[in-house]
Amino acid sequence: MNIIVLQTFLLLIIQFTAIVLAGRDFYRILGVSKSASLHEVKKAYRKLAKELHPDKNQGDPEAAQKFQDLGAAYEVLSDEEKRKKYDRCGEDCLQKDGMMDGGMDPFASFFGDFGFHFGGGEQKHETPRGADLVMDIFVTLEDLYTGTFIEITRNKPVLKPTRGTRKCNCRQEMITKSLGPGRFQMMQQTVCDECPNVKLVNEERLLEMEVEQGMVDGQETKFVAEGEPHLDGDPGDLILKIKTQPHKYFERRGDDLYTNVTISLQDALTGFTMEIPHLDGHRVSIVRDKITWPGARIRKKGEGMPNYDNNNLHGILYITFDVEFPKQEFTEEEREGIKKILNQNSINKVYNGLRGY
Ligand SMILES: *[C@@H]1O[C@H](CO)[C@@H](O)[C@H](O)[C@H]1NC(C)=O
Repeated sequence: MNIIVLQTFLLLIIQFTAIVLAGRDFYRILGVSKSASLHEVKKAYRKLAKELHPDKNQGDPEAAQKFQDLGAAYEVLSDEEKRKKYDRCGEDCLQKDGMMDGGMDPFASFFGDFGFHFGGGEQKHETPRGADLVMDIFVTLEDLYTGTFIEITRNKPVLKPTRGTRKCNCRQEMITKSLGPGRFQMMQQTVCDECPNVKLVNEERLLEMEVEQGMVDGQETKFVAEGEPHLDGDPGDLILKIKTQPHKYFERRGDDLYTNVTISLQDALTGFTMEIPHLDGHRVSIVRDKITWPGARIRKKGEGMPNYDNNNLHGILYITFDVEFPKQEFTEEEREGIKKILNQNSINKVYNGLRGY
């Protein structure tokens, strides 16, 4: 018995050591748990890529390595097949099977602008630039509530070298022509260089944009150099702007949400409990024991939209009630009963507009 326990224990130790020796701990690198969803992996990657970018950590000799580790961790954990294999037998296993291509170019503006420009020089003003492209991206209120990533396939015209040469860097220069002894003519001439020829080829690019919790209409995500190309310069940027699709049940104003609920006259008079499904599927429970009149509004703190700057803060959910009256006829007896219960004297008030409420 003891021997078996010992054996199992040793086996565990050996397995554990094997995993540790088998390569990098991608979960630790990304700071996510073993059960992290794809969304969490992407979110963690995007955040760390901003922090660990070598351009921002020039004092750190390990910056490049850290950034590379991050790229590898992302490559594996964001791919279902690779992640399964990695979970089973570690990085070495993936290497052996040639599944680590390292093809993830962390410098590509994969997730949009990291907040600075890669290898950007100061001579930006002189280099001609292609146009910026601005596009609206329609997202649901659900996406803005929970946060998500959306994939965008862009057919991007890319400059590729081709045969021959073309005129480039054209400029105006003054030239002086001798017309004979003592006589010159000055004239302006367009002078160009000969550059290797290029042509525009459409290339499919997969871009991924993070819809962050609490983003508001008009908020922009910039993809550096994904805009229009320029023959003699840098491409422009692609700018994606958030636009919210109208929602069937919820209306958003700032961080607050508004919804309408219709209840029966019976519930309006006797109280009720109900649950309404929220944007992420969780249920908001409403308990009323007081009378609810048409147009009554209740506030649910913390059930509004998450705040963009601090996702832990939520706005208010306002629920406005409407009351549905019964349509059936009552018998004389029932009418008397209702009158007795309600005991309201006839209030034959002439309708006097808003003050009626
Ligand atoms: C709730 O009802 C009001 C009044 O009819 C309407 O203006 C508003 O758009 C409704 N809100 C939603 C979210 O349906």
